[in-house]
Amino acid sequence: MATPLSMHVMAAIIWVGGMFLAYWVLRPAMESLDLPTKVRLWVAILERFFSWIWVIVFLQPATGYWMIVHELGGFKNAGTHIIIMQIMGWTMIILFIWVYLVPFGKMKKMIKEELYPEAGMYMLKIRRIVLINLTLGSIVSTLAAVGPFL
Ligand code: HEM
Repeated sequence: MATPLSMHVMAAIIWVGGMFLAYWVLRPAMESLDLPTKVRLWVAILERFFSWIWVIVFLQPATGYWMIVHELGGFKNAGTHIIIMQIMGWTMIILFIWVYLVPFGKMKKMIKEELYPEAGMYMLKIRRIVLINLTLGSIVSTLAAVGPFL
């Protein structure tokens, strides 16, 4: 059925595309802002983006496993590219949950207390993880598409 695959691919586009925009477009564009404005703006952006990602981290495995069971006829028929996608997918999901609960939570707390340099430190941590997830997401999506031809 086309619906689970469409939802799966849309989720990948939103997740990977959103991280690309954040890392390669918004980050350099906001470089000249003063620190308090920058960290506040990042929280406003990430709060909205992360709400979408919470939906995606449920949708992506759910549609993925649905396709494995109902379309591929189980794990025995899943190619190596799907096994790799699964491992990398779960790594991305765990990293996202950690970023949301730990550095992002602490960044918001620091901003409330007006400790902007500390908030900036957590922002750097988030940036590093976003780069890792952006790299993994780009590899996974490419591998998913070219995997059947390898
Ligand atoms: C978390 C566990 C995941 C599972 C179990 C899973 C499973 C699958 C399966 C079964 C397919 C269909 C493959 C086929 O019919 O040949 C697929 C396609 C795809 N997956 Fe995943 N996936 C997961 C995570 C991800 C993640 C995290 C991304 C990217 C952010 C991703 C991106 C894609 C893309 C772009 C396709 C479409 C490939 C194409 O047909 O061109 N997947 N996935």
